[in-house]
Amino acid sequence: MLGIGTVARVAKELRRDVVAARDRDPAARGVGPVEILATWPGIQALLSHRVAHALHGAGVPLLPRSIALVSRALTGIEIHPAARIGEGLFIDHGSGVVIGETAEIGDDVTLYQGVTLGGTGFATGKRHPTIQDNVTIGSGAKLLGPITVGHGAKVGANSVVVTDVPPNTTVVGNPGHPVRVEGRRPEGPDTDWIHLPDPIAEALQGLASRIEELERTVAELSGEETPVATQVRPLKRATGPSPAGG
Ligand SMILES: CC(C)(COP(=O)(O)OP(=O)(O)OC[C@H]1O[C@@H](n2cnc3c(N)ncnc32)[C@H](O)[C@@H]1OP(=O)(O)O)[C@@H](O)C(=O)NCCC(=O)NCCS
Repeated sequence: MLGIGTVARVAKELRRDVVAARDRDPAARGVGPVEILATWPGIQALLSHRVAHALHGAGVPLLPRSIALVSRALTGIEIHPAARIGEGLFIDHGSGVVIGETAEIGDDVTLYQGVTLGGTGFATGKRHPTIQDNVTIGSGAKLLGPITVGHGAKVGANSVVVTDVPPNTTVVGNPGHPVRVEGRRPEGPDTDWIHLPDPIAEALQGLASRIEELERTVAELSGEETPVATQVRPLKRATGPSPAGG
């Protein structure tokens, strides 16, 4: 049931959310709590969600979803009223963030714009990610299915993550794969996801060698000059200044 206790809890959670914004958003330095409350979309979405979640928990019909809808229209952040969110969540910029019905978020988590905590299909039951404490999820990252992201993990911008992420691990890319575990590059077999074999280049190189052999044989039989050998080179990563710079 809704009561003084629920209001006090929502107020406490909101205070933690404002502190999180002040601590983790460089743009919030020197900005007062009232201004943050009034102008930070992530904070407004959280306030709306905390009220909607309390009403949803109390079994109030229609109103929780209506609050979520208005909040989404104003902030661009969509949070299902049933989603469970811990204290100190900070949603930076916010636009395009989607948090599904069975998503669970621990304490002191940071989400950037465009993060999706979504399902993978039409399954019912638990179908959205569980995010443990102190996780950071970069802009545009998609986390899909009932996976668990361990405490202290980081998910790189634009990653697509469909499997569990161990604690204190950084995952990037599509599919998301670990590039740091406890701050170190992963070691051992099958940990280098960057320098993978290139089967297409290998197949083309095989064909090129056979064509070269045939051409040499034809040239020898016809008395013509031997043609220059063809080389198939695998694609290399671009080096130099980041194209994303500026
Ligand atoms: C992943 C991230 C959290 C960095 O984590 P970290 O543990 O400090 O890791 P590093 O910066 O040392 O990067 C580790 C490796 O992943 C690569 N990497 C980092 N972010 C990446 C990304 N989003 N996509 C692909 N690769 C990425 C780095 O180039 C590095 O590669 P290397 O092993 O070949 O050197 C950070 O890069 C990121 O994406 N943050 C999100 C920030 C954001 O969304 N900001 C929006 C502000 S509006």
